[in-house]
Amino acid sequence: MLRAKRNVPGLQLNGEPAAPAEPARERPLLVGPLPDRIRHRFPIFRNRVYINSCSQGALSDAVRDAYERYLEDWDERGAPWDYWVEKSEDARRAFAGLIGADADEVAVTTSVSAGLSAIATGLRYARRSKIVTTDWEFPTVGQIWHAQELRGARVVHVETGEDGTIPLEHFAREIDDDTAIVSITHVCYRNGARVDVEEVVRLAHERGALVLLDAYQTAGSLPLDVRELGVDFLAAGVLKYLLGSAGLAFLYARRGVVERIWPTATGWFADKDIFQMDHRDYSPSSTASRFQSGTPPIPAIYAGVAGIELMQEIGVAETRKHVNALNARLIDGLDELGATLATPRRPKRRGALVCVRSKDAPALVEVLGREGIVTSDRDSNLRISAHAYNSTDDVDDLLAALQRHRKLLA
Ligand SMILES: Cc1ncc(COP(=O)(O)O)c(C=O)c1O
Repeated sequence: MLRAKRNVPGLQLNGEPAAPAEPARERPLLVGPLPDRIRHRFPIFRNRVYINSCSQGALSDAVRDAYERYLEDWDERGAPWDYWVEKSEDARRAFAGLIGADADEVAVTTSVSAGLSAIATGLRYARRSKIVTTDWEFPTVGQIWHAQELRGARVVHVETGEDGTIPLEHFAREIDDDTAIVSITHVCYRNGARVDVEEVVRLAHERGALVLLDAYQTAGSLPLDVRELGVDFLAAGVLKYLLGSAGLAFLYARRGVVERIWPTATGWFADKDIFQMDHRDYSPSSTASRFQSGTPPIPAIYAGVAGIELMQEIGVAETRKHVNALNARLIDGLDELGATLATPRRPKRRGALVCVRSKDAPALVEVLGREGIVTSDRDSNLRISAHAYNSTDDVDDLLAALQRHRKLLA
């Protein structure tokens, strides 16, 4: 059964901004007016509480229009490859702007896996053979690093601490002068915990190791600045908090390290001059384009640029503030229900995602879904991930539903 339509603060059902309604429950927490401005641009909220951006961002009018524009351009222009290659430069610039990088430090890829494979196959593992990673990584990351064991690499996993975070001492125990690269995820997709990136980078660089950050769960939900973070590489895709769709991702590579790496997973869009069409030579670009491979994902680029631009317009810093306030309200309500959080409580140690332990997480996702509330699960956790468009009513509706299904919480 879909959730009954109600007058969400900031949204009348015709999509016009409405006067803010009283919160359903009295919670002394400040939540700003962000959804009032933007919610009408995401049609899913007409009949669902969508609070699942860790999995996929909600579809906006801008992204739908971008897909239509792609089809129109194809129809009207035939094969406008120069124009489409220029679109891919727009995507590169848009992502570079989002993370404080220069455009020539960004590779346009089709997935995090593609960018990471370019790095992993480009490292030699002769002088330094160790890859240090964690148990918080997305499967693709662990799998690609372990594949390098066939090429002489040794992979170690830093242990998670008893409190659910990864203490810096655990990294310190593993990162040594045999370490080629430290591969970390910014926010864990399974438990919502956030790594102290700057401290890991400091430690790794002191010991001569590179650092790669998987920022898929933070791009668009947390302001990112690669210079402040100090990472050598950052990979992220657009389908979650950047409001795009599948098929487009990016790899940032710090200028100083680009030419030290010679990917053997490669392709013609990595070449120093793609228009030379030289099939007898491997001469990768001197920029981060050397981490690209084949034909760029043009339809996903249209959508991705629209999503990133929309997120820039909405404001990532404002979104972070808004989601922090929503999550404070959520955690307060979960405490009242006696639920067990799997995510650290300190805002500095979590991102947008809040995970709650469940006796049967798939069943809980299913019953919430039947009531029109879209969430997801991993391990034994219910994943709740608010974004700029979510309102206090969404949180209160979810809490009310969790109260009804209290027996499924652990
Ligand atoms: C943290 C993280 N990394 C990577 C991915 C996906 O990687 P890829 O773009 O290679 O499919 C996801 C997506 O679900 C993710 O949450």
